[in-house]
Amino acid sequence: MAVFWNSTREIVTGGAVAASKKRMAITVLPIAEARISERVATAVRNGLASSPKRLPPWLFYDEAGSRLFEQITEIPEYYLTRTERAILSADAGAMIARAAAGERLRITELGAGSADKTRLLLAAAVRRQGPVIYEPVDVSATALAEAQVRLERELPDVMVAPQVMDYTEGLALDRPAPGERRLVLYIGSSIGNFEPEESAQVLRGIRAALSPGDSLLLGVDLVKSPDILLAAYDDAEGVTASFNGNLLVRINREFGADFDTTAFAHRAVWNASASRMEIYLKSCKAQTVQIPALDMTVEFGRCECIHTENSYKYQPGQAESMLVDAGFMPNATWNDRRGWFAVCLGRVE
Ligand code: TRP
Repeated sequence: MAVFWNSTREIVTGGAVAASKKRMAITVLPIAEARISERVATAVRNGLASSPKRLPPWLFYDEAGSRLFEQITEIPEYYLTRTERAILSADAGAMIARAAAGERLRITELGAGSADKTRLLLAAAVRRQGPVIYEPVDVSATALAEAQVRLERELPDVMVAPQVMDYTEGLALDRPAPGERRLVLYIGSSIGNFEPEESAQVLRGIRAALSPGDSLLLGVDLVKSPDILLAAYDDAEGVTASFNGNLLVRINREFGADFDTTAFAHRAVWNASASRMEIYLKSCKAQTVQIPALDMTVEFGRCECIHTENSYKYQPGQAESMLVDAGFMPNATWNDRRGWFAVCLGRVE
């Protein structure tokens, strides 16, 4: 597997960051970019040819989608981001101290997006150790570029080394320097967007990239009243509906398709027995869509749905069991006062 490393190594000596203020290049290997667009085509082709129709949630995050998601995190009904941020505000210092266990930390974040909440953890790490290397990993180069500019301005002691890659295909991380431990952040309940078998595999993949002493901070959304869940995924302003519909806009743009975006409705369902929110795009009428670049014609029946996302909600204690199953030792869990969200630290022993 390719190792997505850039010049970072050259300015890192013995775990300390040299006084270089040069901005690090975003690592976008041409192969990685080509593979990502090939993956988009395959996902659209297979997803719309299957029955029932589906599209994978990572497709949401093109440039417009990433922006719309940032808006979602600010709508009143979407409690997830705000709740996790409150936990990090209160406990970032304790999280960093436990993960570091007396050593220096290097911080890697999976699905970093705009890395807004991460600032709390990075600031805590800087308070503890001074300069910190931060490696945000994301499929969106745009989100990473913005995060890099903002973080380096706001936290001058943080060296940002962005990596454009799809961590679900395996993580290639170099070994931290002697006396340095890696802390992987996997927050925002992103793990909840995978099926249980897939999420177990993602966690095992993270474990496989780590060494003893390293740790993983996992944020998960917990089961709560369906009213609260439904509102979070179907807000009054319709931002979530636009985010969902942007998938069709993206397919129109990237593959020359002729989806009539006004003929599809946003639909959010709480599936209690599977413990997940389910998100769909529902065809409001019988219609035919052409996707020239994929050489495809797709028929929709009236009310036929494209399943675009699952967002699993967990029981208290479940994140800890998932960590154990993936080979981590649960070290600590932090919750908000309402018990809506959990942030768990697991360590490699
Ligand atoms: N991963 C986020 C979540 O599960 C993404 C998300 C928020 C989302 N709102 C959405 C995905 C609406 C699809 C539709 O909460």
